[in-house]
Amino acid sequence: MNFIDIINKKRNKQELTTEEIYFVIDQIGKSPDYQFSALLMAICLNGMTRRETADLTGAMLYSGDIIDLERIEGVKVDKHSTGGVADTATLILVPLAASCGLPVVKMSGRGLGHTGGTLDKLESIPGFNISLTQKEAVKQVNDIKAVIMGQTGKLCPADGYLYKLRDVTGTVQSIPLIASSIMSKKLAAGTDAIVLDIKCGSGAFMKNLDDARELANIMVDIGRQLKRKVTAVITNMDQPLGTYIGNTLEVMEAAEVLKGKVKGDLYEVSLTLGSEMLVLGGLAENTQDARKMLEENIGNGKGLAKFKEIITAQGGLPYVLDDYSRFKQPKLKKEIYLKEGYVHGFDTESVGRASAALGAGRTSYDMPIDYSAGIIVNYRIGDYYDASKPFAVLFSDDEDKMKDGEEIFVEAVEISDKKTKPVKPVIEIISNI
Ligand code: URA
Repeated sequence: MNFIDIINKKRNKQELTTEEIYFVIDQIGKSPDYQFSALLMAICLNGMTRRETADLTGAMLYSGDIIDLERIEGVKVDKHSTGGVADTATLILVPLAASCGLPVVKMSGRGLGHTGGTLDKLESIPGFNISLTQKEAVKQVNDIKAVIMGQTGKLCPADGYLYKLRDVTGTVQSIPLIASSIMSKKLAAGTDAIVLDIKCGSGAFMKNLDDARELANIMVDIGRQLKRKVTAVITNMDQPLGTYIGNTLEVMEAAEVLKGKVKGDLYEVSLTLGSEMLVLGGLAENTQDARKMLEENIGNGKGLAKFKEIITAQGGLPYVLDDYSRFKQPKLKKEIYLKEGYVHGFDTESVGRASAALGAGRTSYDMPIDYSAGIIVNYRIGDYYDASKPFAVLFSDDEDKMKDGEEIFVEAVEISDKKTKPVKPVIEIISNI
């Protein structure tokens, strides 16, 4: 087999065989970057069939370690979001689903660019440890049903290599490449079933519904071909999901939801995803029953208690959830007033960038972040803003960052004279079960 023939084949819009795809992945470290780059561009332009995409996922999945979760009893269900702003659903649904008896091994990532990362949010809790070994993670899940941690072992090194090339060759935006990249890592993490939150809108990778639907369908189909149950929920990212954006702020909002004090879009998306998890995990017959179980465990405090248990097990101080003043506090606070009118829309990616500019995010992996920085956005699409109260409140430790964040934020909000309809947080659900 020859790499150049494979590049030519894909350039000529022909379908690659399973053997050819496994050959390509096996060539990592043996063939030059430019051949991979040429193939990636050909895939980006000419696409891949569902079968090719599933084969690429399988080839990347077996390129490194595969986590063994056999020692955990029950169906292991993972959740993955394609990335958004004020999306702290993981911190709500992992403890909540675990409090209903579902074993959850959640491997999360850090924030990059305009999106937040669960690991950064958790590290804003004093003492919280995200670095567990596989053995420690398995023990914790057997003890208390849930762990939220960084990736262990060397999962999908092939994806790591290809992702870096995609980043510098203009080939990130290929739906089969995105689908196989995400699914290979999720499947290598040893899970039996996956609930995907496919974000769609101005703050998401997928800006329109057609693309989001295509990505969802391809990922669900990869699950079918690789014999894993997958449910994809397409959710709206035309505005920040929650009201609070930033690390400490999002932990606080997750706690408020678990205390039953906050409803709204974040609550709705968290309960929708959590219900799908309980169904895939076999703990509920249908999503209506599942939702009741989750709502009950908000009402009786079991979800919040589970969150505290997870924090304690991972070395953190759980009492911050009862007394938010125990978190690191921001030095500066700025109230933002805008012109009166209907909230017409957000450039949500810019809202996320504003939060990052205030200090809550990073533009490269090794940048330190300010856990207390962020934004509280008091209004949503469709609301009438009468300018008597702040539209938003910004937090930072630094005057210059505050100025940058404010500049980006005010540009990201569109206020109009025309009445605007509110948007629904959950758009569509696609499943292979
Ligand atoms: N996230 C991933 O892990 N891979 C992609 O290709 C895009 C988003």
